[in-house]
Amino acid sequence: MAQTALSEKYDYGIVKMFTVVAVIYGVVGFLVGDLAAWELAFPNINGGIPYISFGRIRPLHTSAVIFAFGGSVLFATSYYIVQRTCKARLFAPGLARFTFWGWNAVIVGAVITYPLGMTQGQEYAETIWPIDILITLVWVAYFIIFVGTLARRQEKHIYVANWFLLAFIITVAVLHLGNNIHVPVSLTESYPLFSGVQNAMIQWWYGHNAVGFFLTAAFLGMMYYFVPKQAERPVFSYRLSIVHFWALVFLYIWAGPHHLHYTALPDWTGTLGMTFSIMLILPSWGGMINGIMTLSGAWEKLRTDPIIRFMVISLSFYGMSTFEGPIMSIKDVNALSHYTDWTVGHVHSGALGWVAMISFGCLYHMVPRLWNTTIYSVGLITFHFWLATIGVVLYIASMWVSGIMQGLMWRWYDSYGNLAYDFATTVQEMHLYYVIRATGGALFVVGGVVMAYNVFMTIKKAGQETTVGATAAA
Ligand code: HEM
Ligand code: HEM
Repeated sequence: MAQTALSEKYDYGIVKMFTVVAVIYGVVGFLVGDLAAWELAFPNINGGIPYISFGRIRPLHTSAVIFAFGGSVLFATSYYIVQRTCKARLFAPGLARFTFWGWNAVIVGAVITYPLGMTQGQEYAETIWPIDILITLVWVAYFIIFVGTLARRQEKHIYVANWFLLAFIITVAVLHLGNNIHVPVSLTESYPLFSGVQNAMIQWWYGHNAVGFFLTAAFLGMMYYFVPKQAERPVFSYRLSIVHFWALVFLYIWAGPHHLHYTALPDWTGTLGMTFSIMLILPSWGGMINGIMTLSGAWEKLRTDPIIRFMVISLSFYGMSTFEGPIMSIKDVNALSHYTDWTVGHVHSGALGWVAMISFGCLYHMVPRLWNTTIYSVGLITFHFWLATIGVVLYIASMWVSGIMQGLMWRWYDSYGNLAYDFATTVQEMHLYYVIRATGGALFVVGGVVMAYNVFMTIKKAGQETTVGATAAA
């Protein structure tokens, strides 16, 4: 069916709105991350201004990349996927606009409150309680729209990408509600109902599953739709995708305690978290193999198609980070890695390598189809690919070296049994690696700017083509 007819059949307006803001939030979120990285290398560059101090911009960075960039990519792609795979128009378009404005209001709320120092103090759940209520409303609307569209479907079968997306929507709702049981004491302050170790346990049940469902399951849903589309091949094994789905959702939910090894948390819960984390290698690698093998018979596309390259590299990083994570969950390994930059390296191998790269690939696939045109420049996609890839490699390699060195220096004893290094010396040793990380981050930011330019030029080109077409028709 011609693209114009498709854009009439489906509600592409809302997908376009989320796509545009996703690109903008991506650049801003990466930029704030890189500022944080330079501040760690040269602490004085913030000029002593409290609003841009590391402690305040760090949550701004994590929320900007996860919720503003990642969230907008997910809204855009899920609304696109569910309509296309169900051959049905989006349910409740007015409500879908509410999710757009509501989600953006959440982001603006975070941008205003964090630099002023107003947070709940819970990682990845920093927003204060009035914003949490808005998130809940947006999420309920999202669920209604998604399920409503599934109910309208013209296809008998619900394609597996939608399973992952629905699991993400439902689980994030449960996590958000569970982790935000707070008692408000003023308009900006509240206290969690759980205290002490229970609070930590709930927080990391939330934190880990935010990774598992927001940053993993949902992006896997995208992967299952866009990789076969871009490769023009059916998914390698549909049966494997179903096994992947059930094993992933069953195992992820138990693994949270690996964030709290050697704390007041009972030891057996840590062992349980570790065991489930190790088992998680299986579904994770099943999914990675399924994605990569979808290219069977179309390997030459890796040479010719930079969008496929983004997708394949993202799957490779997904495989790497889901091998590394289970290793880090082993108590003896965690005794070295915890509190060090190794964790930060692992985070970004997943976040930059997997989440951001698969997002870039999917956005490049979707943008020309949404605006019914061709991409402005394939060369710029290739340029972006190399900037992002070199950027990620510099980021994670420097963090592995610095993290493992940090861990070893902290536990090194001299022949008298005294600690060999004081803390300040270990910090000094990190400097070079922090500069390398920030340089890698800068390349990643430039890549983001190149993508934004390419996307906006594509949209502009589409506008011109429509005008020329209309004039010719007249
Ligand atoms: C230009 C790209 C990026 C740069 C330079 C960057 C830099 C940073 C820095 C400096 C930190 C603080 C590390 C610390 O506390 O020691 C950080 C934390 C974090 N970033 Fe990024 N980041 C980038 C992109 C991303 C993206 C795309 C995501 C997610 C999709 C992400 C997710 C996170 C998370 C979850 C943390 C917290 C890590 C932890 O608590 O261990 N970042 N980032
Ligand atoms: C099989 C899959 C995975 C397992 C078992 C796993 C395991 C772990 C472990 C053991 C830690 C360190 C906990 C600590 O010492 O504090 C960790 C941290 C983290 N991982 Fe993973 N990981 C997996 C995949 C991923 C992926 C794919 C991403 C990103 C998309 C990711 C994002 C993170 C984040 C953000 C943190 C830091 C949390 C914090 O302390 O703020 N993980 N993970």
